[in-house]
Amino acid sequence: MLSKAFLYLIILAVSVTAAIPPTKRATCSGGRTTANKACCVWFDVLDDIQENLFSGGDCGDEARESLRLIFHDAIAWSPALIALGQGGGADGSIMAHTDVEMQDPVNNGLDEIIEAQRPFALKHKVSFGDFIQFAGAVGVANCNGGPQIQFFAGRSNESRPAPPGLVPQPTDSVAEILLRIGDAGFLPVQLVWMLVSHTIASQKTTDPCSIRRMTEGTGKMVVFKRAPFDSTPKDFDAQFFVETMLKGTFTPGQGLHSGEALSPYPGEFRLQSDARISRDGLLACEWQDMIMDRGNMLQKFELTVLQLSLLGFDQSMLTDCSDVIPIATGTVADPFLPAGMSMDDIEASCIISPFPSLSAVPGPVTSLSPV
Ligand code: HEM
Repeated sequence: MLSKAFLYLIILAVSVTAAIPPTKRATCSGGRTTANKACCVWFDVLDDIQENLFSGGDCGDEARESLRLIFHDAIAWSPALIALGQGGGADGSIMAHTDVEMQDPVNNGLDEIIEAQRPFALKHKVSFGDFIQFAGAVGVANCNGGPQIQFFAGRSNESRPAPPGLVPQPTDSVAEILLRIGDAGFLPVQLVWMLVSHTIASQKTTDPCSIRRMTEGTGKMVVFKRAPFDSTPKDFDAQFFVETMLKGTFTPGQGLHSGEALSPYPGEFRLQSDARISRDGLLACEWQDMIMDRGNMLQKFELTVLQLSLLGFDQSMLTDCSDVIPIATGTVADPFLPAGMSMDDIEASCIISPFPSLSAVPGPVTSLSPV
């Protein structure tokens, strides 16, 4: 027999539960739910791109290029030029006006991903601006330990071409890059937060020679696809911030190309801009901080990419479809020194706090695999 007091507690619990209105979630294809019915279309886009753009949810070339595309579409935004009637911002203009925007050499290498993405946007009748942001957020969530980038939908598909010269180049000085991103509304430290992206990055156009390699054994020259910026290009870890601080001693290709700095490790590529920013008096401590706390690194990156994705748009006019973005799986290692390196190889540049003490992976220096 239930005691009267216990019965009373059950009745109270039932009536309190009944008084709280259930959160209304829209049910979409496959029984998946989202806070807003207008977001249902993005589940269909998600299924399609995971299967047919990202090769079953891989953190591969398309995922990396999709993240780079977010930046190149969005950062071409300058309030003064907008006032003069020029285009720009996260409006998908790089996809709508490829004929114009791809004339700017800074966009070299993005043609393939633009052409690969466009049919999906057309098929699902979503705007180019929305699609670029969505694909970038999904692609990076495919990487081990990837970030959770918020996604807001509802950008119009009307855009004007962005003027050339607004996307930072690897040959730019730190001052020039800070001026450019400052014009787009970012603080200097946010340059470091944006560059968390380079933890999964690689290059193929800055120095096309760096991806030619002699294969061991056969001695044949093979052209690989890309040279990575750190030793773990599929992991959303802090290795990029560690490895950019190692002394540069050689080039992965034949001689230094424009926009390239000496690399610390066979097969690894270092951009001149990354080398400069990591050692800059104003930014070196923030760079080093990215190694100390991965949670902080992820949070700063997520906030900064959200800000990029909203350039030229009012967030309150868009619909929050962030709950469609998959949560990344996989784990990443704590920061380490690549095999054969020691703390003596680190060019610590923050004058107010010591570089964190890291251990090296056992074994001799080995060449990184191209990606
Ligand atoms: C100072 C600012 C930046 C400069 C100068 C810069 C420059 C570059 C360059 C030159 C490449 C190599 C492209 C190639 O030769 O194939 C690259 C790759 C990449 N960048 Fe940046 N970048 C900057 C900021 C960003 C930001 C803010 C993001 C994303 C939010 C980003 C994401 C990427 C990604 C993911 C790749 C790898 C692409 C691939 O592997 O195909 N970059 N960047």
